[in-house]
Amino acid sequence: MHVMHILKIISLAVLLLTATGINADVPKPKPIHGEGQCVEPEDDMKRNHMEYILHQRDETMQKGIRTSKHSFKQCVSCHAVKDDNGEYVRIDDPSNKHFCATCHEFAAVSIDCFQCHADTPRSTDKHELRVNK
Ligand code: HEC
Ligand code: HEC
Ligand code: HEC
Repeated sequence: MHVMHILKIISLAVLLLTATGINADVPKPKPIHGEGQCVEPEDDMKRNHMEYILHQRDETMQKGIRTSKHSFKQCVSCHAVKDDNGEYVRIDDPSNKHFCATCHEFAAVSIDCFQCHADTPRSTDKHELRVNK
């Protein structure tokens, strides 16, 4: 009787562990990180990256202020991801491996930024905007 009881507890424990294991498997986006450090702490960036870039855009476009801290080009350069062939992954790649797409697909966010802005690193400022290509 005693042994049965212990066995029950053990199998319950195994069951619980397995269940937790399954829960931990719920797919969460795992964006590939760039090199070095982000322009702001990671947690802050997770929550507020949109504020930073949109603010940066307004400063540049409306006030003509150009700083590099929250530069869009730099987000794209640092967070660039390469595929198996060594090519930069584009924003509309079906794999959703482009850094910005990793989470946005998951969170169903859609942004139009890459209609104009380059989605991969460019060697010169001139080519930063796709429209100039
Ligand atoms: C110098 C390289 C670099 C630049 C520039 C950069 N990042 Fe990052 N970013 C990183 C790294 C590395 C991480 C991982 C966290 C860390 O180590 O700070 C990160 C983390 C993040 C995260 C959180 C990712 C996660 O796993 O949750 C977001 C979102 C992000 N960056 C967006 C941006 C945006 C938007 C810009 C432009 C305004 C930008 N980053 C510029 C390197 C960079
Ligand atoms: C760690 C996950 C994650 C990464 C990586 C990420 N985003 Fe986001 N982004 C989100 C989430 C979640 C939202 C929606 C936030 C909300 O609705 O409040 C969002 C919203 C935005 C918005 C605002 C959209 C709107 O309709 O207001 C912009 C702009 C944006 N992201 C740009 C970018 C760019 C550019 C990159 C790549 C450099 C990027 N994000 C990478 C998670 C991420
Ligand atoms: C219709 C085309 C277009 C779209 C769409 C667009 N932009 Fe821009 N953006 C521009 C142009 C043009 C500039 C000015 C470029 C310059 O002067 O360097 C600019 C400048 C910027 C800048 C300041 C320069 C820099 O590299 O930091 C930021 C930041 C920016 N845009 C972010 C965004 C974000 C984020 C989105 C999407 C929510 C977006 N843009 C959508 C055309 C566009």
